[in-house]
Amino acid sequence: MPILEPNTLDFISHSEAQTRRLGARLAAYLNPGDVLALVGDLGSGKTRWIQGVCAGLGVTDPVVSPTFTLVNEYRGLYPVYHIDLYRLADAAETITFGLEDYLYGSGITMIEWADRAKNLLPSEHLTVELYHLEETKRRVVLRPHSQRFLALLEAFKQATFAQQR
Ligand SMILES: Nc1ncnc2c1ncn2[C@@H]1O[C@H](COP(=O)(O)OP(=O)(O)O)[C@@H](O)[C@H]1O
Ligand SMILES: [Mg+2]
Repeated sequence: MPILEPNTLDFISHSEAQTRRLGARLAAYLNPGDVLALVGDLGSGKTRWIQGVCAGLGVTDPVVSPTFTLVNEYRGLYPVYHIDLYRLADAAETITFGLEDYLYGSGITMIEWADRAKNLLPSEHLTVELYHLEETKRRVVLRPHSQRFLALLEAFKQATFAQQR
């Protein structure tokens, strides 16, 4: 049962599969240009969430965290940019690799460790926070930044959780 606090969606995922499934469902609400900011410790499920969104967007390439580069590009319904700032040395590096070109491009951009580039995020984005609770349990908090994401979250909440009320 999610906590139906206004303006956020706060729920527990009980398995990796559930995290992926919720990501995949969210994908149906996304438009080109949207930015998802993922925040959470190592192993909290950021990549699993992104794999779900990618599946929902019809990406068939393997979705893994970029290791030697800061960004992976996939082809789905739209271009998808998967960015991981874990290895980011400093803020200057985000400018060097052109983070802003992705953020203001026509693809869907998902950023792991987005808190490392907080000041560079567009004012319009959706934050996905993941917290490790138990071995297979994660708390997921979706926070909209902008009217559009607020409306999107309401629609997602109704469609995904309404039957549980
Ligand atoms: N409910 C859950 N949601 C997501 N991942 C989970 C869950 N339960 C267990 N896991 C495990 O936690 C790990 C999450 O890894 P990953 O998505 O790569 O994390 P991150 O990208 O945040 O470092 C995986 O090994 C996955 O199997
Ligand atoms: Mg990861």
